[in-house]
Amino acid sequence: MEIKEVLQKMTLKEKIELCSGKDTWTTKAFEQYGIPSLFMCDGPSGLRKQEKKNATDMLGVNDSRKATCFPLAVTNASSWDEELMQQLGKAIGQEAKDQKVGMVLGPGVNIKRNPLCGRNFEYFSEDPYLAGKIAAGFIKGIESEGVACSMKHFACNSQENDRLNNDGIIDERTLREIYLKAFEIAVKEAKPSTLMSSYPKINGVHSSDNKMLLNDILREEWGFDGLVVTDWGGMNDRIAAMKAGNDLMMPGGSDYMEKELIKAVEEGRLSEEDIDKCAGRVIKLAIKEAEVLKEEYVADYKSHHKLAVKIAEGGAVLLKNEDNVLPTTVDNKTLVVGYMAKDIRYQGAGSSHVNPMDLRQPIEFLSDCKYVEGCNENGDTSEEMLKEIAIEASKSEKVIVFAGLPPKYESEGFDRDNMLMPAGHIRMIEEAAKNNSNVIVVLMCGSAVECDWADKVKAILYMGLAGEGSAEAIYNLVTGKANPSGRLSESWPYKYNDCVSASYYDKTKDALYMEGIYVGYRYYDKAEKAVRWPFGYGLSYTEFDYENLSINGNEVSFEVINTGDKEGSEVVQLYVENHDVSAYRPVRELKHFTKVFLKPNERKTIKFTLIDDDFSIWDKGNKVIGGDYLIRIGKNSREFDLQETFHVVGATIEQCDDWYSNCKGNLTQQEWEEKFNISYHEVKPVKGQYTMDNSIVEMMDSSLFMKIMYKAVEKVISKGFGGKADYDDPNFRMMINASAGGPLRLMHISGGTKNGLLEGVLEIANGHFFKGIATMIKG
Ligand code: BGC
Repeated sequence: MEIKEVLQKMTLKEKIELCSGKDTWTTKAFEQYGIPSLFMCDGPSGLRKQEKKNATDMLGVNDSRKATCFPLAVTNASSWDEELMQQLGKAIGQEAKDQKVGMVLGPGVNIKRNPLCGRNFEYFSEDPYLAGKIAAGFIKGIESEGVACSMKHFACNSQENDRLNNDGIIDERTLREIYLKAFEIAVKEAKPSTLMSSYPKINGVHSSDNKMLLNDILREEWGFDGLVVTDWGGMNDRIAAMKAGNDLMMPGGSDYMEKELIKAVEEGRLSEEDIDKCAGRVIKLAIKEAEVLKEEYVADYKSHHKLAVKIAEGGAVLLKNEDNVLPTTVDNKTLVVGYMAKDIRYQGAGSSHVNPMDLRQPIEFLSDCKYVEGCNENGDTSEEMLKEIAIEASKSEKVIVFAGLPPKYESEGFDRDNMLMPAGHIRMIEEAAKNNSNVIVVLMCGSAVECDWADKVKAILYMGLAGEGSAEAIYNLVTGKANPSGRLSESWPYKYNDCVSASYYDKTKDALYMEGIYVGYRYYDKAEKAVRWPFGYGLSYTEFDYENLSINGNEVSFEVINTGDKEGSEVVQLYVENHDVSAYRPVRELKHFTKVFLKPNERKTIKFTLIDDDFSIWDKGNKVIGGDYLIRIGKNSREFDLQETFHVVGATIEQCDDWYSNCKGNLTQQEWEEKFNISYHEVKPVKGQYTMDNSIVEMMDSSLFMKIMYKAVEKVISKGFGGKADYDDPNFRMMINASAGGPLRLMHISGGTKNGLLEGVLEIANGHFFKGIATMIKG
């Protein structure tokens, strides 16, 4: 039966019901119309299929079925390898078919705006071009298996604190050039079947209801013809959402706004056609995936583990290698230090959490070495442990220290407090360096950390969060069986305060995008600020040289040569630099890249085609800006081997002499407001005017009833943590933030609270006790 015919047969109520899920992971089946149920689950680095009844959740707290835990986005992006990403996506697609999952939630394409975002490990880059290309590879891979890939979170989900109810205040150019660009590239190149809207508001409009974003830009401008699903509990107003084309509300199981939708159609405020469009898209995808999953499929988990190792190797970044201390032998003259060597940090916490198929520990591969624990699982050390390090390090030829961020430091659901590693890890490294001159640090964390200790050690190998194959990959990289070829996908500043947004990120509930387009290297370069390691940076065990640049028409051509004595891969990066220094524009931007594998003495010709987009800015549309550009080819965003001037015919760019022309000095809110014609005042919720958009946390200062509710929520959540309100446990923190910190309506959508109860609660919080009780009784 044609979808059109099905829709004609269904009642309005049925169509509305179809547009919200059945439970945490499935949509409703309507067998009488031949509509099957669609099963979906996370994830961006491996499946998280929860199968136990009543033990499902959106935060990765309950168990899931085993699946390959691939490296996380942080490591994937550092590979700068679109082809490898396709292999990764394909493998996840195959496991999805094996586990009967029709729709995979991921990858996360949000921009790493600030190093403290708790979920940076799940995002690709500070650069939209790199993020978009890596995402496109990943999506093509999943979709090539017929499985639907839901890239997320559209858009502006670059902080975890107050993620469920913050408002992103952002100017149009920044939105387009930075925060939408990666999505645009991936939508146009990879054509994902689905996309997930985000939690936060953008300039006052909830993403779920945002017609400009979901319809005008996504569907009409970019040609997206798939299904849009809300983030879990991210629905606001279903009437506006239907008009905007946010087709499916998840999780399911509630009757949130069903009556209001019917009434809106009856009163002519919403057309049945809009509902048909949304329901039609749910039907189309559910039927397609049922067809894909009809056949039994057995995934090759063993080969996927090998792929996970390969990606971890390809994404590992060699940050330092003095005296070529790496690669090295690992024997009984080698000391291994750190709790993480026996319990590796290989993935993040939250919805991306995977129950790994085959996890091994570094110590299993380093069994010939001496080992001291050095610290506990939280990174705390003791005088006794440090003494042991000192004694053993002084007796060894070299020391490999495993350090980084233990799990409680970064997670979905909250941002990091600072950019520091645990004091215990730093003391471990310093103690080893005091007693041994050959210290190698293997670093595991999902985003940049301050590395004041870097000058004291010989080598640093940054793994990001490298999945279940971390241990093998580390062994192969340290011993030279593999050659590191990852490059940083975000800049590493010396200090957190060097970040442009350090003084205001997370300081207000709302996200004020005051730095505009100056994110990551776009800021550091413009402000001429030194960084510890720049965007695009990474070393190799071999050397590469570049020669013979020529530009013919729009075609850039040059050669890369492996001049060292080992085979290896180079990431070739092309940046476009604008000479017009007083223009409001970054100094340079990444426009093309590729990864090439070369044997010693081998050379390859690389060709890139320059396109209009390389020279455009957003000014009520993409506008090519004319002038002389430097086309720069190099190893990272600050080191160039070849360059040539290229003249472009186009419009002139507006000159300015404010902060945005040089990024020097302090950026003030007033300057930002004047520049973009923004007038921002934090709206503090006031008793008497609380709405469903406010959270228990926001209301509890002025409402005794909300204080009691907070305690009740805390108690319920504590039950899952041995009766303890353990704010040190990332899962506990995440859950409390998602419930007491989320808008009240979430309790209806995700918590199943029925009509009337929440309205009554809200009345009471607003000071109308008896009215509240009456509302509850009536409801
Ligand atoms: C996360 C999403 C995830 C969803 C389902 C949400 O809390 O933000 O990324 O896909 O839960 O687990």
